[in-house]
Amino acid sequence: MADSTVAPAVPAASAVPAASAPAVAEELCFARYEEVTAALADPALVPPPAESGPVGGTAWLRAGVARFSAGEPHAARRAFVEADLAGLDPDALRSAAAAGFEADVRVRAVRVLAQALGLAEPEAVARAVGVVARSYFVERPEDPEADAAVAWLLPRMLPRAGDAAWAEDTARAVNRIGLLVQACDATATLVEHARAAGPEAAEPLAAALRHDPPVRTMRRRALGPTVVGGVSVPAGTDVLLDLAAAQADRPDLEPLTFGTPPRLCPGRTHALAIAAGILYGASAEAGPSAAEPVPDTDDRDPAGLVPAMVEHVLDLAGTWTGWDGRPATVDGRTYTPHKAIRRVTDHLLDHLAELEARLAGEPTQPDHWHASAGTTPADLAPFTPVDLDEARSRLTRLARIWSARLASLTPEQLDRSPGTGWSFRQIAFHVAESAYYANAVGDLRPQERTTAR
Ligand code: HEM
Repeated sequence: MADSTVAPAVPAASAVPAASAPAVAEELCFARYEEVTAALADPALVPPPAESGPVGGTAWLRAGVARFSAGEPHAARRAFVEADLAGLDPDALRSAAAAGFEADVRVRAVRVLAQALGLAEPEAVARAVGVVARSYFVERPEDPEADAAVAWLLPRMLPRAGDAAWAEDTARAVNRIGLLVQACDATATLVEHARAAGPEAAEPLAAALRHDPPVRTMRRRALGPTVVGGVSVPAGTDVLLDLAAAQADRPDLEPLTFGTPPRLCPGRTHALAIAAGILYGASAEAGPSAAEPVPDTDDRDPAGLVPAMVEHVLDLAGTWTGWDGRPATVDGRTYTPHKAIRRVTDHLLDHLAELEARLAGEPTQPDHWHASAGTTPADLAPFTPVDLDEARSRLTRLARIWSARLASLTPEQLDRSPGTGWSFRQIAFHVAESAYYANAVGDLRPQERTTAR
């Protein structure tokens, strides 16, 4: 057990005494298990209240969510969150997270929830939530982009069917955004820490929660005078609770990383399900086989797969220099010649980076691809003969790197690959499916404008 219970009182940079409390600008830190749990259960210690701001902005959101409220408003707002979460099946969340194809874990985790909640545009919702998340824990957020994201999200917090009565219920919508924002960074960090626990950790999620918790500290403010572990805490004092130190102090007791009642994380079962799905499921975009958690393999030599796929893509690309500028729509997504080349290239690059990181024993890098979701102005540009030449040089070289890398791997490495995610053989068969993007544009020789799928 740690000897020192209370760190020296230090001036708190962000301490603003509660309006009703005397001005005491001090911060106390508690790091022992008994004190941290006592502080979490103490009704006099509440999260620093959020100051509201212009309607529809981040400060306004913070002032309306369960997370930063106390007493009766907290109970009512928490009930909204619990009702939403009660309608979500953790097993279904896990499968959805495993089959998802977004390599950005924050987006993937939130999108799974948004989809399960029946929200339209779940991917766009997840990206907007990611923008809000960066200012959500800031005491006086000044982030116009986050404000705009809150304003964009608010009317979208409706079930697909649309329900007028529900639409009027702003508090419910605000707390639904709160639910998604709470899930965003915490779940992604849990996945990252579990990945960092390495393949030797029998239960990487439990190991991360115990030894490398995503939420390490929490703040409280004393609404009135109280005593924690024999230490008096005057009204207005800011209190820092070091959860990570406290649970390291008592490894024999429950970890504190999901907090404790009355504010125990209501999303803990859902977070664990989503994190497990991401951890053990597909590690990146599954492209055409998004519904399949694991790609099929056969006895073809993996080293030959990528060059063969690239040859097919370049054959099709050879017919694109006369493209008439009309994008193709396949599986609800827009494709153009430039976009198809971009997607094939990025897909090869992404999995190559994953493979190399795993061979090096490093965690794979969370990336920020927008994948096929967006179509950029450059995607819409004409595909000239020079573009074709450059694509040929680029993709041929990438195919050679893949081929050389896969040829250098032993059967053991191919099938019992290091790191988490698909085996390298499965990844090779998966990236060989990248022809999907080129097939979406198809063979554009005159009279043959058709998708080759
Ligand atoms: C599906 C994912 C998640 C959802 C929907 C979610 C949701 C929430 C919500 C709405 C609250 C506020 C509850 C309240 O104030 O009464 C909360 C609190 C909390 N969450 Fe989560 N969360 C998720 C993931 C996580 C993860 C992965 C962690 C860390 C391992 C975590 C740790 C916490 C903690 C420590 C609190 C308590 C904060 C406090 O006492 O002030 N959450 N969560």
